[in-house]
Amino acid sequence: MRHFITLDDFSNFEIEQIFRLAAGMQTQLETWAGICRSKLLATLFYEPSTRTRLSFESAMERLNGGTLGFADPNSTSAAKGETLADTARMVTNYADIIVVRHNWAGSARVIAKHANIPVINGGDGSHAHPTQALTDLYTIIRRKSKVNGLTVGICGDLQYGRAAHSFALAVARFGGKLVHIAPKGLQMPTWLLTRLTKYHRHEPLEVENVTDVIENLDVIYVNRLQEERLPPAVDAATVRGSYLLNAEVMKNAKPDAMIMHPLPRVNELAYELDDDPRAAYFEQSANAVPIRMALISSLMGLQQLILTQPPKRNITEASQQCENPNCVTNHETYLLPEQETFNGDTTIQTCAYCGSLIK
Ligand code: NCD
Repeated sequence: MRHFITLDDFSNFEIEQIFRLAAGMQTQLETWAGICRSKLLATLFYEPSTRTRLSFESAMERLNGGTLGFADPNSTSAAKGETLADTARMVTNYADIIVVRHNWAGSARVIAKHANIPVINGGDGSHAHPTQALTDLYTIIRRKSKVNGLTVGICGDLQYGRAAHSFALAVARFGGKLVHIAPKGLQMPTWLLTRLTKYHRHEPLEVENVTDVIENLDVIYVNRLQEERLPPAVDAATVRGSYLLNAEVMKNAKPDAMIMHPLPRVNELAYELDDDPRAAYFEQSANAVPIRMALISSLMGLQQLILTQPPKRNITEASQQCENPNCVTNHETYLLPEQETFNGDTTIQTCAYCGSLIK
């Protein structure tokens, strides 16, 4: 059974195959419509969503499949204290594939462990948002034909932005050069920097202001302040609006740069840029549908040739509890902590659920 919980679940080759299928589905929908007939996608959304849930539903229904699910956990047994494991076991009998979004990091992995059907992570806390990263990469490749060698700036709340995390890992894997642009306190978390440097052998440049690097960027990926995830000690008012991409800033950017944003935007991306031909954010949200069509049909095995061998992972039981208070293992008490090592390097271990470093 294949799941898509983080980018580590697919090889680069498999990701490229998904892009090929998505491109085919985008241009020749009639050929593919019908592939998911009589199949059901369950959308378990414990956190707010517009694009992710609707584009998954649109993708499934365009393939003639059906959807069921919830967008308000207060209307489900989660409000009565039902565990993720029990919900997963039950939904297994109601659907053929699951997409889940939840506030706890590692939650999608719990669903995958307890469901007998493929599970897709639609965003887990501030950890990962791998399907957004596929959409983002695909959008870049459609405009620029490649990622390799491009200078990609990721700007905004890099500490808590899960879309930024998965995007950074994806860009590094495909040979892009990363520039992290964030105000103090919102820089990329240590676990992500460690993965980039140790496992992807990638040293990102880190700066505080977009204006310092704008003329070098091929892609400018903006993301909003994740106010709902900020710890009480961080004053949202002081960081809010501390970064802004507008026409004035874009005057110094390359004429063929791409402006990207996973959306929703709040006040970090000016509306005046919407008519700039470099704006690619609505294209990004449109590309979410063919990407999710390709992903759903591949994970359900309806496209036998696309997914080959899952990349090998080295996961073992951990001797201590994860220190990340938002990790699912600190909320669902039946879970045993697990750790992961990479490339045979046992000096660095990470929580197999939320990716945090284990000290
Ligand atoms: C992102 C998310 O939910 O992480 N939105 C999305 O899925 N397109 C980004 C965000 O909320 O800032």
